[in-house]
Amino acid sequence: MIRRGWIIGVVLASSVVSLATAQSPNTRSSGDAYVPRLGDIMNLIQVRHAKLWFAGQAKNWDLAAYELAQLRQSLSDAAIFYSGLPVTNVTTLGQPLQSISDAIAAKDGRRFASAVTELSSGCNACHATMDRGYVAIRIPTEKPFGNQDFRPQGR
Ligand code: HEC
Repeated sequence: MIRRGWIIGVVLASSVVSLATAQSPNTRSSGDAYVPRLGDIMNLIQVRHAKLWFAGQAKNWDLAAYELAQLRQSLSDAAIFYSGLPVTNVTTLGQPLQSISDAIAAKDGRRFASAVTELSSGCNACHATMDRGYVAIRIPTEKPFGNQDFRPQGR
C-alpha cells in the first residue's frame, strides 16, 4: 500500500502547494473518514476535465492550472481509496498531465489541446480495462456551466 501510494503521489503530485493548505479536511468527531464512491469521484473528475478544457480554450491559464491541480487531486483520491484500480492505468496519466502542465506554463493552446486529447485517451484506456468502456470521455463540445465565466478576469 505504501509503495502504491508513493508511486501515485509522485506521478500525480501537484506543484500547487497553496491548494493543499486551503483544502485540509476537517477532522470528524466520529473518527470515520467519509470515503466518496468511486463513481462520485469520477463525476468530479469529469467536471474538472471539462472546466480544464474550457479554461484553456479561453486562455485563462490561471484557471487551467487550478483545474489541473483539482483533477490531479481527484485522480489521486480515486487511486488511493480504490486499490482495485490498476496502478499502471493511473501512472500512465502522468505523462499527459505533465504535458498539460507544460502547455499551461508556456501558454500554448495547441499543445494544450493535444495533451488534453491524450489525457482523455488515458481515461478511456482505464475504463476499457475496468469493463467500463461504455463511459467514453472526449473533448467537450459545449460548456456545461453557464454560471461560470471562463475568461481571464481583469486584476
Ligand atoms: C485508473 C482507472 C480510471 C481512470 C484513469 C479514469 N477512470 Fe473514470 N472510471 C473508472 C471506473 C472503475 C469507473 C466506474 C465507477 C463505478 O462503477 O462506479 C469510472 C467511471 C467514470 C465515469 C462515470 C461516473 C458516473 O457515475 O456516471 C466518468 C464520467 C469518468 N469515469 C470520467 C473519467 C475521466 C474524465 C477520466 C480521466 C481524466 C477518468 N474517468 C479516468 C476508472 C478510471
